[in-house]
Amino acid sequence: MTARRKFIKQASLLGGLLLSPFHTHHKKHIQKNVQKTTGTETRPIVISTWKHGLPANEAAWKILGEGGAALDAVEQGVRVIEADPDNGSVGIGGRPDRDGIVTLDACIMDQNYRCGAVACLTDIVHPITVARYVMERTPHVLLVGEGALQFALENGMKKTNLLTKKSEQEWRKWLKHSQYQPVINIENHDTIGMLALDASGHLSGSCTTSGMAYKLHGRVGDSPIIGAGLYVDNEVGAACATGMGEEVIRIAGSAIVVELMRQGKHPEEACRIAVERIISRNKDVSHLQVGFLALNKHGEYGGYSIHKGFNYAVQTLDSAKMVDARAAQ
Ligand code: GLY
Repeated sequence: MTARRKFIKQASLLGGLLLSPFHTHHKKHIQKNVQKTTGTETRPIVISTWKHGLPANEAAWKILGEGGAALDAVEQGVRVIEADPDNGSVGIGGRPDRDGIVTLDACIMDQNYRCGAVACLTDIVHPITVARYVMERTPHVLLVGEGALQFALENGMKKTNLLTKKSEQEWRKWLKHSQYQPVINIENHDTIGMLALDASGHLSGSCTTSGMAYKLHGRVGDSPIIGAGLYVDNEVGAACATGMGEEVIRIAGSAIVVELMRQGKHPEEACRIAVERIISRNKDVSHLQVGFLALNKHGEYGGYSIHKGFNYAVQTLDSAKMVDARAAQ
């Protein structure tokens, strides 16, 4: 049996067990339109942080499964989560800063080292699309605050109140004590980062968040910082981060993970080394959570975090599943 036929046979055996009706419906179409790879290679593939990664991946797969571009997939995938008012860490419904203002950070990067980002953006549901506009419609990489909002409006986006009743009530409750004590894997699972490898072998990534709950007004985390919250090098792989953004920025986290993959490290090992670097630079990490997620050019992936509890969603032709990342502690 040729490697290709073996792959298809394995795919059909696994598919029935793990695929949603959407995947089953599209599978024949995908097999016609998407180049499949064999052996240890997998493409297309999309991975993203946390459980909200499952519906995000499903939206991304609608594009990847049709042979579409990774860049479109990572934008459309995370838009689903940005639009969900029940998600308290991304887009509308995101927890506000300590002044009660929801400020959003996002970035996107494609296979040609093109990138765009917005930080401290208010009143716009889809910062990831504004980030893509920055990348495609300006000579810049990062727009912030008022300037980012003005640019979004000029580019046809509508103003929306991002503070939902639920997050306002929670914020008012928090105001009574005004203590900032992030809880590992609760307040810290503040990001969706998504990495995709398309059928043509191109990588792209996206990252979007409302950031740390009840942060100082104006605080920007790692998520819109290219090289920290996200990095893509189409020759090597892509990485993104979640958790305490300040710690990710301090080690240029996602860029480090990509460089470790360039040196031949498996994605999980690269994430582990980056996590160990953060641990080595902090006396006490008992209240600090950071997780990295990485995908290489062959479709191999892995994640690693400081503490147990970080998980990520993986979608391929064969399956849509959650994976628990290994952790240092
Ligand atoms: N990792 C997201 C943030 O710190 O804002």
